[in-house]
Amino acid sequence: MNRRQFVGAAGLVGLGLGVGGWQLARQPGSNEIIARKLDQQLLGEDYPYTPLWGFNDQVPGPVLRRTQGEVLSLTFKNRLPEPSTIHWHGIRLPNQMDGVPGITQAAVQPGEDFHYEFALPDAGTFWYHPHVATYEQLGRGLYGALIVNEREAVEVDREEILVISDLHLDRRAMIPGDFKNLHDASHAGRLGNTILCNGQKIPALKAFRPGERVRLRLINASSARIYRLRFDGLAPLVVAIDGHPCAPYTLAETLYFSPGNRFDLILDIPKTSASFQLKDEFFPAMQNLLAQGRIEGEPVPARAAFAGLPPNAHPAFDDRSAERVKLVLEGGALSDKATRESIWLINGKGHNHDTFIDAHRAHPEPLFECRSGQTMHCLIDNRTAWFHPMHFHGVVLQEREADGRWGPYRDSALVWPFKATEIRFVTELPGEWMIHCHVSEHHHSGLMGTFRVGDVCTTRQRPWVMTAWGSVTTA
Ligand code: C2O
Ligand code: CU
Ligand code: CU
Repeated sequence: MNRRQFVGAAGLVGLGLGVGGWQLARQPGSNEIIARKLDQQLLGEDYPYTPLWGFNDQVPGPVLRRTQGEVLSLTFKNRLPEPSTIHWHGIRLPNQMDGVPGITQAAVQPGEDFHYEFALPDAGTFWYHPHVATYEQLGRGLYGALIVNEREAVEVDREEILVISDLHLDRRAMIPGDFKNLHDASHAGRLGNTILCNGQKIPALKAFRPGERVRLRLINASSARIYRLRFDGLAPLVVAIDGHPCAPYTLAETLYFSPGNRFDLILDIPKTSASFQLKDEFFPAMQNLLAQGRIEGEPVPARAAFAGLPPNAHPAFDDRSAERVKLVLEGGALSDKATRESIWLINGKGHNHDTFIDAHRAHPEPLFECRSGQTMHCLIDNRTAWFHPMHFHGVVLQEREADGRWGPYRDSALVWPFKATEIRFVTELPGEWMIHCHVSEHHHSGLMGTFRVGDVCTTRQRPWVMTAWGSVTTA
């Protein structure tokens, strides 16, 4: 226990004595994920501890690490004051393990447990987070990395996982509780004032040695913030996007990194720089330094060029038999379609965000239905003034690039304001799967829907269905 942890524990005991009869909480076992309150020092010694919600008493939650093909088997214990679930972002798993309240399972109530167990078909960088009132639960600290190792070890000298998040803290390092406000929901979501990298503000990473080969795994766990990443002093090779290996390419300038996204980068540490910085320049006039470090020490002999990661197995596309669907996104601030009740609309239909969106109850009829193994082409037409990183559960997608070819595998597509993008995917396991914007405030104020694969109906809460979707226009 270092000094910081000791002070933290002492702080907790002090708090416990204050409320009386309080005991040190039991340490979580290795097959448990406990969501509960904790206090953590985020801004350094000069600031008080911040009350947070976290998994296994830490923010970010523990790094869960397994090997491709293994089964992840964990009991989730909800010790929060609110219902919750865990969604395993990017993992292809059976629908009833997907963690979507009201659709794939009932929300786990305070004091209740839920057992998650599923195989891990893909190697890569994934993450986990709740799917209930995500804007608040992420915004209070509930997120963690899920790393699936390749079956054969990838040769690197070192690995770094950077979980990037964005909190709103006041002057006393407290989180103001104004999560559900109409302004954030109808604009760019809740942008915090404190960007954290592994739960710390601008951490200095352990120095890199010249010539070292580092695998950097980046995870954007922010509720709303899109970053435009720039690496000074490094020349990263992009080797995987959203967990899935891509043809490696050297990063020429910047990377758009939207909520939910992951990037795996190979860094062959240059002998020419003495330090490096990871920056965000999404708003050019308000740049953020995210992490930094030094390059020093004995040089390591350079290695041969990195050949790429072994690919994950994906079902083959059959474009000739593809079904075509269209998702028209409307609403948000500046739109005459938005109302106080329904801020966002998909294909002309909105949700009343006030009454039921947090736990996805009263979710609408699926946007479309299809058989398993069907190739889908989907046009996402963003008629709003806002960015929407549209995330699909249960499938891996590709986005059509400017030259007409299909891009790398990923699990969300960032759709720019007043732009349309076409994606394709092959439907896989049966069930009802979510499509939503990963700006959590957009998601929970109505920018969400589902698609149904197969004729298996997994919906447990039919009686709450209030609105039916219109038929989807096919192009
Ligand atoms: Cu990170 Cu519905 O997902
Ligand atoms: Cu997801
Ligand atoms: Cu959005």
